[in-house]
Order: sequence, then C-alpha cells, then structure tokens
Amino acid sequence: MNQQCAVYPGSFDPPTNGHLDILLRATQLFPKVIVAVTDNQNKNPSFTLEERLTMLRTTTSKMHNIKVDSFSGLLVDYVQQSRASVIIRGLRAVSDFEYEFQMALMNRRLNRSVITVFLMPDESYTYLSSSVVREVARHGGSLRGLVHPSVEKKLKKLYRIPSHPIG
Ligand code: PNS
Repeated sequence: MNQQCAVYPGSFDPPTNGHLDILLRATQLFPKVIVAVTDNQNKNPSFTLEERLTMLRTTTSKMHNIKVDSFSGLLVDYVQQSRASVIIRGLRAVSDFEYEFQMALMNRRLNRSVITVFLMPDESYTYLSSSVVREVARHGGSLRGLVHPSVEKKLKKLYRIPSHPIG
C-alpha cells in the first residue's frame, strides 16, 4: 500500500469550507489525496452523487494533487483498491468523537493496515456542517464564508431562493 496517498471520504452534501480546510491540511501531509464521495442512498442526500462530485471538482479546481471520486461498499475496500493506506477525517468538537472513534476502530478491524488520521479545521469552522448549511440555505440565510460561491448557488437553486431578494 502507498503511504503517500490518503483518502478523504464523506457525504459532502454539500461540501463546506470546513471540508476544504481539512482537505488543504491533508494535502500538506500527503502528496496525493483522493476525495471519496459515498454513493450510499441510505443517507438520503439532498444532492445527487453527480452534483456532489461536480461541486467538489469546482471547489478544488485550484488545488494540486487531488482526485475527486465516488465509492460504494466498504470504505476500507475502496482505500485498498486505490492503493492508499490512510483515511482522513475531520474532528470539529468532542461531540464528533464517539462516532468517529467507532468508525475508525471498525475500519481498523476490517483492515489493520489502513490508518485513520484526524485533522482539526480552523476553529471558525467548529460549528459548521453540511446539515447546518442546508438548514440556513432552506430559510434563505447568508452562507457567505461558509461555502464556496458555486455551492451557495446550487443551494439557492435547490431551495428556490432568489439570488437577489425581491423588494
Ligand atoms: O460525511 P459522513 O457522512 O460523516 O461520511 C461517512 C462515511 C461515508 C465516511 C461512512 O459512512 C463510510 O465510510 N461509509 C462506507 C461504508 C463503510 O465502510 N462503513 C464501515 C465503517 S463503520
């Protein structure tokens, strides 16, 4: 397995500036990072897989050594198929820990050679999540500084919010 390649998996529904912050940090540690979008429909995503891939490709277009891809099935199998050896996950607050700990240990049990590395985003993104972003967007709130402008546009379209409020 390639110690030089890391996989950053997630739903990215939609990608936020917190995700991009983690991704940027990951590229400082690993020469190649694959952003792997789950196509798991059980999560009932607001955006289709294709839309999430497009948003990620647009928002990471200026970053180097990044590949945006999708995966189905077990994450550790995808990591192995990609000849990678590291999973990157963001850790924002203690509340994330239990879920992340469970997932990291299960992934380790499934494949002992895959290592999970946790990175912390800038503290200004501690409260930021895709679900909070969707909630704010649904009610027409400002997302400036929280998501890439192209993602904000997609959210406005999804929730039929006019770009320039009428009146
Ligand atoms: O952004 P998310 O929704 O927290 O990402 C979760 C994700 C996609 C990383 C996780 O659900 C996953 O790895 N799914 C693939 C199925 C799998 O491997 N499950 C075993 C780990 S418990």
